[in-house]
Amino acid sequence: MHIFQKDPTVTRTWRNAFGATFQYKGLFNTRELYTADTVALEHIVKNNFIYQKRVVVMSSNNRLAGEGLLGVEGEAHKRQRRIMNPAFGTAQIRGLMEAFLEKSVELRDVWTQKIGDESKSTRIDVLDWLSKMTLDVIGQAGFDYQFDSLNPEGKPNEVHETFNKMFHAPNTASQSALRANLHSIPAPFRRLISIPARKTFDDARKKLFVLGNQMLVDGKAAINAAGGPKAVSGRRDLFSLILRANMSPEVPEDHRMSDNEVIGQIPTFFVAGHATTSSAISWALYELAINPLVQIKLREELFTLQSDTPTLEELNSLPYLDSFIRENLRVHAPVSHVTRIAVADDVIPLGTPCLDTHGQKLTSLLIKKGQMVRIPIVDVNTDRTLWGEDALKFKPERWEQLPKAVDAIPSVWGNMLTFLAGPHNCIGFRFSLAEQKALLFVLLRAFVFERAVADGEIRRTGNGLHSPFVYSEREKGSQMPLMVKAFQA
Ligand code: HEM
Repeated sequence: MHIFQKDPTVTRTWRNAFGATFQYKGLFNTRELYTADTVALEHIVKNNFIYQKRVVVMSSNNRLAGEGLLGVEGEAHKRQRRIMNPAFGTAQIRGLMEAFLEKSVELRDVWTQKIGDESKSTRIDVLDWLSKMTLDVIGQAGFDYQFDSLNPEGKPNEVHETFNKMFHAPNTASQSALRANLHSIPAPFRRLISIPARKTFDDARKKLFVLGNQMLVDGKAAINAAGGPKAVSGRRDLFSLILRANMSPEVPEDHRMSDNEVIGQIPTFFVAGHATTSSAISWALYELAINPLVQIKLREELFTLQSDTPTLEELNSLPYLDSFIRENLRVHAPVSHVTRIAVADDVIPLGTPCLDTHGQKLTSLLIKKGQMVRIPIVDVNTDRTLWGEDALKFKPERWEQLPKAVDAIPSVWGNMLTFLAGPHNCIGFRFSLAEQKALLFVLLRAFVFERAVADGEIRRTGNGLHSPFVYSEREKGSQMPLMVKAFQA
């Protein structure tokens, strides 16, 4: 087992021992540059034409998501972003609140039924249900499609089952580590290695593309029937918005996405927007379970809203909810790190000098083409030199007054690296924040959450996705069991 899977926090230990910038040997002896230096990180994320997603990460994204936003770099990425950005703006997300609340209420009703007797506390794997809920949300808000995976009577959904196999199986961590490092095996040998879960990926891709193709045909027909891309249409899902933007007569032909690129966005939303949000909320409920006073304070604030169907503005007006969500995404960033490869020689400036192997002080780093770089999202989010001595502590109140040092963290939202920064920042961050607020609003007003397993049993995987599992039940793969009971005022 690789050290990152054995101990997902090992890079933080090294950072504290060796400083913000150092090199180590990863799987297959690959030399990887680690930097938590905010000046260096700013340079790396901004220069996305030099620091690109690794070939193998790209090809495994492409394997699943075709030519969607996650799998493209350079000019194609710029072109896609230009068309897609408006669909993820605040006004558009406001229009999706109804879907977020509706699915949160469906989840609440499923749990209420599972608990049965109001005075009873029931063990529920909240991650499993949240993952069904976020899939249903991506279906409905993403492309007006009903997966119906929250329906307890519904038959198992094929797409959901496929995702479970890929992201939550017990061997997921080792498989993804191997896939991500295949590039470092010399080419003649690489062919001899069977890519882990290749068949699962290929099957998923086929299913998603059949679905995507049908959506493209139906979507175009609906837009044309309504009088063209400029006509007012009832559909507010992301896919319809993107399709309309792409068909707009104002967009020059060479700035448009091809049909394959448009279809590629569907699996992209699945991959990027489904397991991330469910992981975030399962950690949020865990923090509430182990911090009962935080739970009480947050619930009290949520009850100050008079409506059962609050608007995005009403939810955004709740300061403790906002601080709680920020703190959770800081400590439990669902994507714990990302990696890049330098596709050209470069010089990276450093905010804090580091030492080379001869003990010489370096104020910048000479980078050779092919150098691997790790962007340690969670480590930066919990760096003591930036956040203070209590950086690892879960403390929503810290957001009332942040240390000045965190202003230096490159960020698209909330002084943290959780949604990355630079041109590849997370396009869906507003979508996810609104969905998370809707979920907490509905769930916390209905239930009380308590610990289900002993202290120290809940751990996180080291595969880049910050998925929880129970140490003594690790053969079961990702899960987040909690005791859930009805809240009685
Ligand atoms: C808590 C939830 C989420 C987190 C923590 C998260 C985090 C991230 C991160 C770290 C990246 C950068 C990946 C890289 O460049 O290597 C990213 C990119 C992306 N995310 Fe998210 N994400 C979340 C939710 C969503 C949602 C809900 C959607 C869509 C509905 C989404 C869509 C995307 C897309 C399409 C990209 C690629 C952007 C680009 O390269 O231009 N994400 N996300």
